[in-house]
Amino acid sequence: MVRLWVFFVISITACISSAPRSNSSSENSSAPKQLASAPHGLVSAAHPLASEAGTRLLQDGGNVVDAVVAASFAISVLRPHSSGIGGGGFLLFYKKDQDKVSAYDFRERAPERATKSMFIGPKGTVKDFIYESKNVGPASTNGHLAVGVPGLVAGLLDLHKKYGMRPLAEVLAPAIKLADEGFKVYPSLAKALKDKQELLRSFPDSHKIFLPNDRVLEVGETLVQKDLANTLRLIAQGGKESFYNGPISKAIVTEMKKGGGLISQEDLSSYQMIERQPIEGNYRSYRVIGMPPPSSGGVHIIQILNMLSSDNVGELQHNSVKYLHLLAEVMRRAFADRARFLGDPKFFAVPTLGLLNKDYALKLRKTVDLDKATPSLNLAETKPTAYESPSTTHLSAIDRWGNAISTTQTINTTFGSGLTVAGIVLNNEMDDFSVNPGTPNAYGLVGAEANSISPRKTMLSSMSPTLVFDSKKELRWVLGSPGGPRIITATLQTIINLIDFHMPLWEAVQANRIHHQWLPDELVIEENSLSPELVQALERKGHHIRVSRESFGDVEAVERLEDGTLIGVADRRSEGQPVGY
Ligand code: DON
Repeated sequence: MVRLWVFFVISITACISSAPRSNSSSENSSAPKQLASAPHGLVSAAHPLASEAGTRLLQDGGNVVDAVVAASFAISVLRPHSSGIGGGGFLLFYKKDQDKVSAYDFRERAPERATKSMFIGPKGTVKDFIYESKNVGPASTNGHLAVGVPGLVAGLLDLHKKYGMRPLAEVLAPAIKLADEGFKVYPSLAKALKDKQELLRSFPDSHKIFLPNDRVLEVGETLVQKDLANTLRLIAQGGKESFYNGPISKAIVTEMKKGGGLISQEDLSSYQMIERQPIEGNYRSYRVIGMPPPSSGGVHIIQILNMLSSDNVGELQHNSVKYLHLLAEVMRRAFADRARFLGDPKFFAVPTLGLLNKDYALKLRKTVDLDKATPSLNLAETKPTAYESPSTTHLSAIDRWGNAISTTQTINTTFGSGLTVAGIVLNNEMDDFSVNPGTPNAYGLVGAEANSISPRKTMLSSMSPTLVFDSKKELRWVLGSPGGPRIITATLQTIINLIDFHMPLWEAVQANRIHHQWLPDELVIEENSLSPELVQALERKGHHIRVSRESFGDVEAVERLEDGTLIGVADRRSEGQPVGY
């Protein structure tokens, strides 16, 4: 299988021209649409029209910030079920001239009136949310209480103001046009609309916009978002103020009051993006840079790589029993630590340095029995459960000056809280808090005090925008993924595939993945990915195997080859498409 991909990639790479191109597959009928190569700049996003919007900015003299801001606003329109201006995200920015990486946190924050037990009902379980006398489901995921104070607009606009080279109106134009004129519904959006129709029907604006004439749109039909177009126009004219201190905030606060939500004008006015110190580790001869807490992504990707640093992973066969067992065991240990120690560092003393310490990782590695799976509950105690459907989005980009951005953005689960205001789908990020110690969230993740709810606290995340530099200190890979906790394991496996298995980027992204997150105590594998013999061998070692049809991530990546050529790859698992020039 691996060899097949290698051959495929070599032949595909050979047939990609480096001339300016729109990357439409009709131009290069033999090249898969998820692969692009370009000499100057490249954007890899989860929809071709978003990559195109970003690349156009690069072609028009903009830098990577202009491109990523344009592509992010465009993806907000194109993937309203995944991400958007009602959500938040994290971003790593490599400034080539300073040889410096900065980390930006524009994740949602808990409203001032949020309380530790706000989601717990009389029976000690998550209570339901009632909107206009209708029960719309669990309050931590559905409806007004689930919404964290959105940060995406503050993050993108602050970055654009500081580093952008093209006017804001030009940067927002593609998103406005897409919202105004609409775009064709594609398979995963059609599925999201169908799966979430009941929730969307609960809220008048969501109903009107996403189920026009009370119909679920099908693939190929056009989704128009006029209200969102108007909101984006307000942002283009009035900047961040219009969202946090103007007509848009007013609409959000009015709806919160009407539905019993907590977000106030003061919560919105006081929202600030936070610049943080990125975290880093070394793996083999590479330097891996990741997002610090309140994301758990960077910490655990580096922790797992540290655990593997004493193993000659490259000598194991890719996706063999030996390799998968080892990988599952180190994932299990990292996720057990995540549940106990990760949260917003302003509110909880996250032992980041300890978690990143190589000796600590190697000590954990020594507890792995190479013959037998360690039952998760022998590592620590809590309870198992199930997952939710996937959303979120990742963008990777490099410009002609060698600046790069890796950013993951989300409204959390599919269509977030289900609530739409001024055309904006509002997130349900409050569910990423640990609503009660041991109570699993939508992804089956459990947590404790470190990630409990407090006013203005940021909920823990798995989002893992990542940059990897080679031994010559040159930026080599820009990558990341959606997928809840699978973000960490998808990004991790892509890095291992690149560094230990020396796979070309295409193959590293497309290779089959596994996932283990401590609890539930199960080793999750992709459908049709492992042979029955391999599955049985893993079961004999004590793994509880679950085959899952849900997304194993949607990696969007860019590689910079030594000669400066850029390679963009989008995951075969979704609709992404890189575009370069
Ligand atoms: O921040 C997090 O970890 C989650 N809110 C991300 C959600 C996600 O990736 C959804 N979809 N795949």
